[in-house]
Amino acid sequence: MNTSLLACLSIVLTGLLAQASHAAEAAPPDTLKSGKQVYNEVCMACHDTGVAHAPRFRNKADWAPLIEEGQGILTAHAWVGVRAMPAKGGKPELRLVEFSRAVAYMASQSGGDWEDPDAGMMKKIRHEAEERLEKAIKEAQAMKQELHRLNEEDD
Ligand code: HEC
Repeated sequence: MNTSLLACLSIVLTGLLAQASHAAEAAPPDTLKSGKQVYNEVCMACHDTGVAHAPRFRNKADWAPLIEEGQGILTAHAWVGVRAMPAKGGKPELRLVEFSRAVAYMASQSGGDWEDPDAGMMKKIRHEAEERLEKAIKEAQAMKQELHRLNEEDD
């Protein structure tokens, strides 16, 4: 191999390495779905026409009292599931942040000025959801104890 070929190779290699390290440093792309995407793929099935009294998309009267509850609380309650609203919109693989974006999108199209949740809002949502679940667990435990007592009496 002659020296000019070697020099040429080393220039190519240096360029490739620089590119590779640049790619590693670059922030990963946001692969999470937008609120609009999630709404169209999951929530629309019920919230477009109002299946089982689901608050209807772009219906300000349906949404006004919900928006009043505040973004953190409403999002958390919906994610955990409330009355006829299935937990996670019935889509277990949906990430909390994606679900939260969908709620923000629905509210913003229905009279509210909610935006995609930032880190502070996500923290509120997580905290409220945990409290809700804690309460549900206690209620389930009380039911289980009642059944246990009934079974003991039966023996
Ligand atoms: C299978 C039907 C169904 C799907 C799918 C569904 N919802 Fe709902 N949702 C409901 C119903 C029904 C209610 C009304 C619950 C009630 O008040 O009894 C509701 C209520 C809500 C509320 C108000 C909760 C409250 O505290 O009153 C929010 C927010 C919400 N849904 C968000 C979503 C989002 C976001 C999605 C998609 C990720 C979704 N829903 C998918 C049926 C659905």
